[in-house]
Amino acid sequence: MAPIPISPVKVGHIDDVQELRKTKPTIIPERFVRDKTERPTTVATAIPSSSDIPTINFSKLSSGNTDELRTEISHLTTACKDWGFFQVVNHGIDLSLLESIQKVAQDFFMLPLAEKQKYPMAPGTVQGYGQAFVLSEDQKLDWCNMFALGVEPKFIRNPILWPTKPEKFSETVEVYSKEVRKLCQNLLKYIAMSLGLQGDIFEKMFGEAVQAIRMNYYPPCSRPDLVLGLSPHSDGSALTVLQQGKDNSVGLQILKDDRWVPVQPIPNALVINIGDTIEVLTNGIYKSVEHRAVTHKVKDRLSIVTFYAPSYEVELGPVQELLDENTPCKYRRYNHGEYSKHYVTNKLQGKKTLEFAKIQSRSSNQEEPM
Ligand code: OGA
Ligand code: NI
Repeated sequence: MAPIPISPVKVGHIDDVQELRKTKPTIIPERFVRDKTERPTTVATAIPSSSDIPTINFSKLSSGNTDELRTEISHLTTACKDWGFFQVVNHGIDLSLLESIQKVAQDFFMLPLAEKQKYPMAPGTVQGYGQAFVLSEDQKLDWCNMFALGVEPKFIRNPILWPTKPEKFSETVEVYSKEVRKLCQNLLKYIAMSLGLQGDIFEKMFGEAVQAIRMNYYPPCSRPDLVLGLSPHSDGSALTVLQQGKDNSVGLQILKDDRWVPVQPIPNALVINIGDTIEVLTNGIYKSVEHRAVTHKVKDRLSIVTFYAPSYEVELGPVQELLDENTPCKYRRYNHGEYSKHYVTNKLQGKKTLEFAKIQSRSSNQEEPM
C-alpha cells in the first residue's frame, strides 16, 4: 500500500464487473478477453488430487509436544520449499470470525454500485473499491471487483475509504486483522525455525509490520475460458493469508512445474503463501509462487486476502546466516518501501516484479559488450 503516484495514470474506462454481469453479456467485452496464451484452458490443470498443496496443522506447531513440533516443522519446510503455498488447519482463529468477515465482505459487494463507489480506488493506487494494478488504457482487465484497505500501521489508513455500510464492516476488519496478524507473526516464527534461524529474526527485522486486506469478488462469467479472475502474479508481501468463501467455486490456481494446480478449499482452513519478501530474505530457499484466479460459469467466488510485510523503512536483503562461500547472494539489498512502490505501480505479470531485487547472474554480465 504505497503512496499515491505523482504522475496521473490513464487507464481508460473500467467496467464494474458485477454490473457487467447483470447484463448477462453473451459476448465478453474485448478488454476482458485474454490473449490465447493466457487463457485458462490453454494450459493443463488436471492433476491427481494426491498433488494437492500441503496442509499444516498449526496446533501441532503452537501446542504440540516436542516430537509433534519437530514433525510439523519438517512438513512446513517441505511446504515452503516445494510449494510456496500451504493450507493451515487448527489455526486458532474463531470460526465465527471467519464467518463474520465473509458475511460483511459479501454484503459489501452486494451493495448498490453508488454506495460502493463512495470509496473509489483512484487509478494507480491500491486502496478502495475498483480494480488495482490497471496502469494503461490497453491493459487487459481482470474479471473481478476488489475492495482493499491498508490496516497497519495506522498511518497507512485512509479513513475516508473505511465503509460505514454494512454496519459492522470496519469493526469486523479490525478484529479479524488483529487475529490474522498474530497468525502471521507465529507462522514467521516457525518459518524461521524451519530454516534453522532464531525464531524472532523476522519479527525483529520487520519493525512495525505493514498489513493490508483485500477482498476479491469474482462474479460468474459466461465465458470462463476467455477471461481471468486475477492475472498471474506473486505477492510482494512476506506472507499472504487467504480465506476462501465457503461453498464457493474453486478458483485459485498456483503454477507448479509449469502446470496450473487448483487449490481445493478445505473448510475453515486458511491458505498461506510465501511472498517475494521471504524469497529475498531466504536467498531463494523459499520462493514466492506465481498464482492466478479463474472464474466459473455460474458460481461466484469471494476471497479475503491479508498481506503482511515489513515496515516501509526497513532495508532488506538475504539473511547472512543463509549465505556462505558456496551459496552466493542472489538478491541485492533494498528499501522495502521502494519495493512496495515498485510493486503497486506495475501491472501484475507473473514474477516479473521481483527482478527489481535480483542480482544479475555472471553469464548475463558476460554478454555485455566490453
Ligand atoms: C491476491 C490473490 C487470489 C484469489 O489477492 O493476491 O492472489 O483467489 N488472490 O482471490
Ligand atoms: Ni496473490
